[in-house]
Amino acid sequence: MTTHVIPQSVPHTNRQTLLVCFLAALAGLLFGLDMGVIAGALPFLAKEFGLNSHQQEMVVSVMMLGAALGALCSGPLCSRLGRKKTLLIGAALFVVGSVGCAFAPDLQMLVISRFLLGAAVGVASFVAPLYLSEIAPEHIRGSMISLYQLMITIGILAAFLSDTAFSHSGNWRWMLGIITFPALILFAGVMTLPESPRWLMMKNKNALAQKVLMLLRSTEAEAHAELEAIRESVKITQRGWQLFRANSNFRRTTYLGVLLQFMQQVTGMTVIMYYAPKIFAIAGFASTEQQMWGTVIAGLTNVLATFIAIGLVDRWGRKPILKLGFSVMAVCMALMGYMFFIGITSLAQQYTAVTLLLIFITGFAMSAGPLIWVLCSEIQPLAGRDFGVTCSTMANWIANMIIGATFLTLIDNVGSAGTFWLYAGLNVLCIILTLLFVPETKNISLENIEKNLMAGLPLRSIGSSL
Ligand code: BGC
Repeated sequence: MTTHVIPQSVPHTNRQTLLVCFLAALAGLLFGLDMGVIAGALPFLAKEFGLNSHQQEMVVSVMMLGAALGALCSGPLCSRLGRKKTLLIGAALFVVGSVGCAFAPDLQMLVISRFLLGAAVGVASFVAPLYLSEIAPEHIRGSMISLYQLMITIGILAAFLSDTAFSHSGNWRWMLGIITFPALILFAGVMTLPESPRWLMMKNKNALAQKVLMLLRSTEAEAHAELEAIRESVKITQRGWQLFRANSNFRRTTYLGVLLQFMQQVTGMTVIMYYAPKIFAIAGFASTEQQMWGTVIAGLTNVLATFIAIGLVDRWGRKPILKLGFSVMAVCMALMGYMFFIGITSLAQQYTAVTLLLIFITGFAMSAGPLIWVLCSEIQPLAGRDFGVTCSTMANWIANMIIGATFLTLIDNVGSAGTFWLYAGLNVLCIILTLLFVPETKNISLENIEKNLMAGLPLRSIGSSL
């Protein structure tokens, strides 16, 4: 990711650039669609194939295994083939995985197809934000990362809606198969994208890089200024692994990135996204229709609350929002656990539980949802950024897999109340970890963060001005 400075007087963003950013952010939509779709499809396919809790967890979590591996391979693929071709591979995997799920004759084929979809999601979650950060001009770069999270939440909501539409017939094959169409649109869209000028410069294709920048920037002067800045920044070669071995300061931010992604997952939001209808069933909503509509409302809350983060992140800063978000989530999880403990018997109790669930989702979407991705892309020093972001993105998927693979087993073994109390405790732990290790990076340049880090400042202070 580049950290060059573009003149502040940039008047407006070229429409072509916005279109390019939108097409790349479509990968976030697919990410969300594939994450969200399984919640509604699971009860139906579990019935058809006669799956027990363990097998259901496997169907959910094999996607995360694929995503972790997809993210791991994306780094080298991206630097060898370029951002565009890697994104194309991701889009093709989305198509193949969706078709495979729709026609899966048995559990094995379904698991293989979900693994391929996971690989696609892993590629998308690494390449799309990277490409966006390289293609978007400095003055809209921050909002692009949050916009990417917004696309994820819209994808999850769209999946919940389509699940609801197909729930009358119980046709899980259509639920999973319909994603083939947006996947094809992504593939066609990515075909029209230009290659990242930064990657072109790294490969010494300077004339091509210039051509792309001329197309994407409003004025020739702007394109030239950026070209020069990229020329400077690509002199710093990516040497992540060597840097990781040699430099203890870089090791600290690599570990912090991994920790941040684990924190995002242990909030419990992911299980709510995967198992929403099941949670509504535990809360006493017996009919499939009630469960599906509840799930749609959960998805809508997730989309809308993401706007709170977009509006507040550069005003309040990252740390206060994170502390608030984790606190809201801890309280909601503890209260939901209590309600499951005493038993949900009346309608009033059912609606109280749902309200708590929606407040929990708001807590996540306004804080850890987008902010963890923002922080992970801000804290790494330039020379190790690809490596650092690969590690944290992989950690997201590994943690996601552990959480997805253990939820039903936890419910079976320690009960719903115990499971929700466990997540409440983990959210409290996240508040403590935020206080101890997370820096405030609002209004500070990436170069400044890097200088503080390399000067050996404690992690929580690397965002202070020099
Ligand atoms: C997280 C996912 C989560 C989603 C919910 C993403 O940032 O990585 O695990 O399910 O947000 O919106």
